[in-house]
Amino acid sequence: MEKLVIHGGRPLKGVLQVSGSKNAALPIMFASILVDSPMHYSNVPRLRDIQTTIKLLNILGCKAERGDDGDIVVAPGSLAPEAPYDLVKTMRASVLVLGPLLARLGRARVALPGGCAIGARPVDQHLKALEKMGAVFDLAEGYIEGRCKALHGADITFDIPTVGGTENLLMAASLARGETILRNAAREPEIVDLARCLNACGAKISGQGSDVIHIQGVERLHGCSYRVMPDRIEAGTFLVAAAITRGEVLIKDCPVAELAATLAKLREMGLTMEIGDDWVRVLPAGRLRGVDAATRPHPGFPTDMQAQIMALMTLAEGSSSIEETIFENRFMHVPELNRMGADIRLSSGKALVRGVDALAGAPVMASDLRASASLVIAGLAAKGVTEVQRIYHLDRGYECIEEKLRAAGADIIRASSAL
Ligand code: UD1
Repeated sequence: MEKLVIHGGRPLKGVLQVSGSKNAALPIMFASILVDSPMHYSNVPRLRDIQTTIKLLNILGCKAERGDDGDIVVAPGSLAPEAPYDLVKTMRASVLVLGPLLARLGRARVALPGGCAIGARPVDQHLKALEKMGAVFDLAEGYIEGRCKALHGADITFDIPTVGGTENLLMAASLARGETILRNAAREPEIVDLARCLNACGAKISGQGSDVIHIQGVERLHGCSYRVMPDRIEAGTFLVAAAITRGEVLIKDCPVAELAATLAKLREMGLTMEIGDDWVRVLPAGRLRGVDAATRPHPGFPTDMQAQIMALMTLAEGSSSIEETIFENRFMHVPELNRMGADIRLSSGKALVRGVDALAGAPVMASDLRASASLVIAGLAAKGVTEVQRIYHLDRGYECIEEKLRAAGADIIRASSAL
């Protein structure tokens, strides 16, 4: 296994380039199950989850590979209906093949993703909505088995806005008979990116980005060339890394509009930034102020930025609080940050953070993707050496993070680890 070793206390300085969005790329790549000619994807980050997606697409009968230029081409093939447990257990987003397989094949057998480090994360909303479109499901031997004659349009109201559920239904409804309306749909930018890609393939989707989406089913979808949007969470992570080290950093290819809630919270903390169309320059900060925050579905403050901003709060002046309303059990970074000298208490879904003067480097353990990012951020600001263990979590979502941070002046290396 590998770890990151960080000698903290150096302000970041220079340029940080944002990669393509993982969470947009995953559903967009699964959309290639729906099309009858090749898809060509660019700006797809080099990440473990993308490798898993390529593997899964090949198991399902598509011919997916990354070319020497970094672009990914997926050619259609003879489809198979089964997404095996070995892959699904490593990447929960595999459940997004359910809608496309039912639409194309009329059957799907997908391992049940099960629990994961950040809570139970059921898929009941995906199944309930697909049932309204004519699918029937059984649960057998840990697999979801779905069948349908042909999917038909339906008027569906989600009980809660679910990102994956909305994506699965967008894909299924694109090839269904008639019109589907998704109400209480999630509004995340990655959903808008998926809808844009599907429309480029011939789908008829409107209303994406609002909570009511209309999809007029079409007979067939064709391949297209598609550039994946930049990663708003990677960009937000870089903003916080620049702020905590009191650095001066230009963040390029930054999805500014999609980051509005994060930018607003950082401004409220006292961070000064210059903001362009697709870039943000963070100016050297003094000590930031404590603030209160609560995670919400988009356009609210993203749960995927909660752990990172908490690292920043640990060094802010006064008290902060952060409430997690999307996932239970998403505070596993708290004891690790406290081991570095932070003062954070948990109380009924809320973290109460009292700002301290300094963090101290320590060996810490990453528990999930964004928790790992918060430990790296804390390590960049801490005095002394921080060793972040189990960084395979980080590698699921951040492309060459230590190389990017090193180029901006951080003292960070990847080393092998016994743990
Ligand atoms: C996606 C993102 C993840 C992000 C999350 C919320 C990807 C690959 N992952 O995850 O990074 O943190 O959105 O912005 O894009 N729920 C149910 N039943 C369902 C579906 C969801 O109860 O059928 C619950 C979940 O347990 C969770 C909440 O709804 O508490 C939101 O989940 P959802 O929006 O579906 O998140 P994901 O698509 O899994």
